[in-house]
Amino acid sequence: MSTFTETNIYSMPRVYANTCPEAESSSSSSLMLRLEGSGEKPRSEVVHDSSKSYRKGSLTITPVLHPCTESSTRSTSFGAQVDGIDWSRPIPEDIIAQLIEIQDEYAVLIFRKTGLDNNRHVAFSQQLGQKLEINPFFYGRENDRIGDPFLWDVSNINRDGSIVQPNSRRWHHSLGNALWHTDSSYHQERSKYSLLLSHGTPARGGSWTHFADTRQAYEDLPQAVKGMLDDLVVEHDLWHSRRLGSPTIFKEPLPQERATKPPAYHRLVQQAPAQGRKALYIAAHAKLIVGWSYEDSQKLIWKLIDWCTQPKYVFSMEWLDGGDMVWWDNRQSMHRANPYTASMTARDVRRATIIDDGPFAWGVMDQEVAAAKQKAEKISMGQLDFPQNP
Ligand SMILES: [Fe+2]
Repeated sequence: MSTFTETNIYSMPRVYANTCPEAESSSSSSLMLRLEGSGEKPRSEVVHDSSKSYRKGSLTITPVLHPCTESSTRSTSFGAQVDGIDWSRPIPEDIIAQLIEIQDEYAVLIFRKTGLDNNRHVAFSQQLGQKLEINPFFYGRENDRIGDPFLWDVSNINRDGSIVQPNSRRWHHSLGNALWHTDSSYHQERSKYSLLLSHGTPARGGSWTHFADTRQAYEDLPQAVKGMLDDLVVEHDLWHSRRLGSPTIFKEPLPQERATKPPAYHRLVQQAPAQGRKALYIAAHAKLIVGWSYEDSQKLIWKLIDWCTQPKYVFSMEWLDGGDMVWWDNRQSMHRANPYTASMTARDVRRATIIDDGPFAWGVMDQEVAAAKQKAEKISMGQLDFPQNP
């Protein structure tokens, strides 16, 4: 990606391939997570490595991605599978507190075969934060496949049970979800956690969600670059990522679509929830660096997304069984889905999204945006001496 202009940015190829497992080469260090003994062998490293497991009370924790630096410790690992929870009854508050601690540390937690249904999915989510996002596409129980305003239908299934067809508006809307993003960064009152639960039986080898570690990626930036990024504010716009995913159909969102989702402003560099670490808060929704031109903004934003999604910061989780659930923290990770394809099989995943109640929940308000604009105008893209991605 060399030249960014308003006219060409949306016509660039930006639909990501199904990188796992098809494009996964044995030389790649991008990691896939699946259970040992699940039958099929993945084409790259099996990272559910029980030799790395440890106990915390009644829970067994297996970290997924280990940083490659010499000074790295378990506390800088990214992603973990957690076993040992009795999902058949409400989760006790002491376990919830433990899980939040583990979540702060790993940013993405994977649970297998939970057996949760819609109600228990929502109930567990409500134990993790006071407010859940209402799905804006919920038009009443009789008009929604799932029938719960707190659950987003991120499946590829229509209300009548058929698979979403190519060229439907829903198909095109979903293409933006295959770009690296954080959920709801386009809301001024953003969300902290997402909990995605699988229903039915996913087709083996066909269903993946990919995660990137925005904390380690920030830490590994050169100090001089960090210094320049620290005060920048980003405008996030859902319709920007929809247009990137589907440039023709979402060239101009419908008036009612635009009205429901105005842009939002958040700091680029933020304090992560625990451990005194910082993280990049970045996503395909990111449209402008406040105070910068559109072209320079996109250049920096995609440079950073590419930086964060180098294989050493990324792992991919395969959906193996109904009841599998992944809970991630949008404030310290990015993720993406595999894109829809004409040959895809049914993938019934439903998401609860928990609104942030931390100190950065409301992002950056008007006066601060104006101040950030003045500061940012003094920095140009050319001053950022960015290391080459491998
Ligand atoms: Fe998402």
